[in-house]
Amino acid sequence: MAEAEQPRPYPGWPYPRGLDAIAYGGDYAPEQWPEEIWAQDVELMRAAGVNLVSIGIFSWALIEPEEGRYTFDWLDRALELLHANGIRVDLGTPTAAPPPWFAHRHPGARLVDRAGHVLGQGGRQSFCPSSPDYARAAAAVAEQLGRRYGEHPAVALWHVHNEFAGVNAHCYCDTCAAAFRHWLRERHGDLATLNAAWGTTFWGQRYGDWAQIEPPRVAPTAVNPAQQLDYLRFCSDTHLANYRRERDALRRHSPGVPITTNFMIANCKWLDYWKWAGEVDIVANDHYLDAARDDRHVELAMCADLTRSLAGGAPWLLMEHSTSAVNWQPRNIAKRPGELARNSLAHVARGADGVLFFQWRASRFGAEKFHSAMLPQGGTGTRIWREVTELGGRLAGLGALRGTRVAADVAVVWDWESWWALELEWRPSVDLTYRERVEAYYGQLWRDHLTVDFVHPEADLGRYRLVVAPTLYLTTEAAAKNLDAYVSGGGTLLVSYFSGIVDANDTVPDGPYPGALRDLLGLTVEEFLPLRAGERVELSDGTGAGFSADVWAEDVVLAGAQAVLHYVDGPAPGRPAVTRHQHGRGTAWYVSTRLAGADLGRLMRQVYDGAGLDARPDLPETVEVVRRPPFLLAINHGTAPVEVHGVTVEAGAVAVVEEG
Ligand code: GAL
Repeated sequence: MAEAEQPRPYPGWPYPRGLDAIAYGGDYAPEQWPEEIWAQDVELMRAAGVNLVSIGIFSWALIEPEEGRYTFDWLDRALELLHANGIRVDLGTPTAAPPPWFAHRHPGARLVDRAGHVLGQGGRQSFCPSSPDYARAAAAVAEQLGRRYGEHPAVALWHVHNEFAGVNAHCYCDTCAAAFRHWLRERHGDLATLNAAWGTTFWGQRYGDWAQIEPPRVAPTAVNPAQQLDYLRFCSDTHLANYRRERDALRRHSPGVPITTNFMIANCKWLDYWKWAGEVDIVANDHYLDAARDDRHVELAMCADLTRSLAGGAPWLLMEHSTSAVNWQPRNIAKRPGELARNSLAHVARGADGVLFFQWRASRFGAEKFHSAMLPQGGTGTRIWREVTELGGRLAGLGALRGTRVAADVAVVWDWESWWALELEWRPSVDLTYRERVEAYYGQLWRDHLTVDFVHPEADLGRYRLVVAPTLYLTTEAAAKNLDAYVSGGGTLLVSYFSGIVDANDTVPDGPYPGALRDLLGLTVEEFLPLRAGERVELSDGTGAGFSADVWAEDVVLAGAQAVLHYVDGPAPGRPAVTRHQHGRGTAWYVSTRLAGADLGRLMRQVYDGAGLDARPDLPETVEVVRRPPFLLAINHGTAPVEVHGVTVEAGAVAVVEEG
């Protein structure tokens, strides 16, 4: 997107503030420990190769024990100690954890859920994102920090808040209702336009006064989907305004230090990060594995690629991940020996110029005491500590990777708004989920050794040989035109089912499905044919080669496209299931059913051939190979050694090779 591609004030990070190596470190909470421990902390940090720590993130109640009274002594001392030891600081604004006095004094700033329950304190982020009292208090503490430390030589980076919208993405209080109405006026201008956009003639919902509009609170039945979509947009924008307010306060006092906040690409559905990406100086992400998944390293790669794509291809920062188990999954599985390094270097392979963890030292109390850390409760005699120090040493030798850019030939379309819209209630099947389809196509590309960029549907696509648009349910006119221009100009596009169905207001455009994508795909979809739970359909290419699919089918009518696969049975026997359409100088594929695993792999091989892509069948699926020219990184997730470009990569190891 144009915004994300604008030149940043800081082309890399945090180069302006003197960090001349790949960043390595983690969240550090000195406030949880007696000061005698701090000296040991910095000594061990140096031993582990730590050069950057994030501090202050949850320390509001310590910095401002009463409204307007600030105490910085401990933070002064912590910064001095780190500085004296050459460890640079990513200084947090503590606004994700308002102090108890704040909630007590401003009861109207409490978070209210969709059912109207006022949520309690004692955790973090329990505040209403629209609250003017919160906005004032957060800006004030950010301002104080900026004033005090804006020019401090230890400060390499600002870390605003923590994981915006982590647990307070949506609030439904009256303050939010008023702010929503204000936002709606800006978006729609007048009530007649809003009524038309929301289709309020349906179920007699016409609004005669702005005051009648509410957030989509719990109701006896489905709430207007356009109203829900606008609410989700409003909430994402509200959190962004909170970020900007703090950022601007810091910028005034600290113009020379880059400012960021930690995204959470994997776990946060609710922020449209395409809009956020242009607002941070450095894109930073937190990533936690879903330990229950066997293919967790593939999901990691996907999140890393998405993060890099948000950064417009520039180096980015892995702000948090874990050395081993987390504490908040149903079963907190420890990382296996070597997994810490593989995970970390996989992020580096995909463009990260820094690897940080939550957290430096494991807490002994509080809700996260069973979360892993760089320095476990067991101390320096542990396997985790050994792996942490080994990794620190390794990263110190990889400085030449900094600033190099990942090369990708394939793009996958990613759109938060379409994700939100697809997963509202009353869709044709509960089995339609956004991430499932994105991950299925991404996973296949990963197994085929193709490196992927993610793109907004309206982004320039010209540089890619193949673009995949998995279930792009909400497709704007501009997106459809963009995809059309890409194919007309010679590109290869693959669109999966239930795409092009609605516009930005969740309204089905005139004419048959798939709306604005009909001409491009050369077909119409007469009817959706969702399958029963567990039901499978067979597909054939006419030569007897069978494919099997599930979840979804469609009654596809050709209008220029050719059928590549037909349904053999199920609700539409004999009808086209997968099609190919020559459009202008390019090709548009359409897949109307849920192919997965080896069957998806076989289909994709045909797609690659047409797009002139080399899918590297010579490499085993267990090895991950990514280029950051002139370097190539090979990560062996398998149990046997693999040869990659003449280099042997041992089982579980990572090789960094400089190509000639
Ligand atoms: C993150 C959060 C950290 C810590 C971590 C535990 O989402 O930013 O503060 O809670 O999770 O995994």
